[in-house]
Amino acid sequence: MPRLLAALVIISLVSVTAGLSLPDLPAAALLHIILALGIMPLILAAMAYFIPVLTRTGKPEPLVLLSPIGALIAGLLATLSLSLSYPLYPVAAAIALLAVGGLLWWSQQRAKATLGRPHPGLLWYQLALTALILGLLLIILAALWPEQWLPLKRLHLHLNLLGFIGLAALGTLRVLLPTAGGFSDPQAGVWLMGEWRWLVAGTLLIAAGAAWSAVLADIGLLLWLISLARLVRGLLSAHSGRLWQWHGAAVSLMVAVAGLALCLIGGALHGHGLLPASQAGEAFVIAFLLPLVTGAATHLLPLWLLQSQPERQQRLRARLGYLGAVRGLAFLAAGGLTLLSQPLAFWLAIAALCQFLIQLARPLGDER
Ligand code: HEM
Ligand code: HEM
Repeated sequence: MPRLLAALVIISLVSVTAGLSLPDLPAAALLHIILALGIMPLILAAMAYFIPVLTRTGKPEPLVLLSPIGALIAGLLATLSLSLSYPLYPVAAAIALLAVGGLLWWSQQRAKATLGRPHPGLLWYQLALTALILGLLLIILAALWPEQWLPLKRLHLHLNLLGFIGLAALGTLRVLLPTAGGFSDPQAGVWLMGEWRWLVAGTLLIAAGAAWSAVLADIGLLLWLISLARLVRGLLSAHSGRLWQWHGAAVSLMVAVAGLALCLIGGALHGHGLLPASQAGEAFVIAFLLPLVTGAATHLLPLWLLQSQPERQQRLRARLGYLGAVRGLAFLAAGGLTLLSQPLAFWLAIAALCQFLIQLARPLGDER
């Protein structure tokens, strides 16, 4: 399992690099290389890894790995279909539905097997999976109901980005941040138990608003921004010294929250026609997903790659976290420039990503 996770982190980083740099494919195909092929299987595998921890049940059965592997196949087929043979995409969505539905069913079995109550993070994962199932069903429906193509596609994309990725990422980040920052934080559980309602309502309003009414989307945006503000205020009021450091995973995760807020505000601007929506997906990848994945990988990859070698884990973690703040801020700036359609954005994002990849690729053993 840890090896599969490490491989999927690397696949997702390669897919981001490919998605940002391959020039000749349609925009939707490029985005699906990153989101459906790179990120979706990684999130499902991470859930399969964390759900036993959240439910205090034993290691995952090997069969559960069929879910991220199925998602990988679906992501590949979705990309091929959007590049070469459009009518195939519902098949890809159907395979993804099986992979996601299977994981949701398994998570419910684990919830039932928990002694006492499962950690509230489990509910966040289940809500994220439900949002993805809904998003996939809607894009299949769009193939059958072409007159409603545009609203259904807008529902699909906002539900997947904010409902699936947004909830899965925040549910993980709220637990990972204290661990990565080296402090204990009893407020994490309280925030997770309270905030999901607002974020689910916000996501539904944004998705429905993008499909039918920009004002509804603005109300949803407000709910998201208030929740994020509560998250940041809670963290910074008690732990700012641990979070704002030049190096490490925690600062990168904090920058990801700022990147998400930037994309949400960018959403309001494209929702009212003040910015082109065509850059929004790329900005989401650069300003939010890149600091999130590099930050989480800084903490988790050493654990997954170097099991039972704590000293080497520590050294690799220090190496991956080197200048984490500068790298994160470069992603954030590149995301902002992407929203403004500035070509410099791409080079800034790739340079920051390469800094991480070089730290990762240096041979193990010469960490300093
Ligand atoms: C196998 C799974 C998936 C299939 C078959 C699929 C299919 C599609 C299709 C057919 C479109 C319309 C493309 C167009 O306008 O030409 C679309 C748009 C989109 N999808 Fe997916 N999708 C999948 C998974 C995902 C996931 C997991 C995400 C994000 C987490 C996602 C995010 C988006 C976005 C952002 C767009 C809008 C692209 C744009 O207009 O630039 N999709 N998807
Ligand atoms: C977080 C990342 C977001 C991304 C990547 C994104 C992406 C997109 C895309 C690609 C479209 C155009 C779809 C099409 O017409 O083909 C769109 C439309 C829209 N989005 Fe977003 N969006 C995001 C967030 C938001 C947020 C937070 C809001 C809430 C204010 C929002 C409100 C809208 C609205 C109202 C439309 C329809 C615009 C129109 O009628 O022309 N979006 N979005």
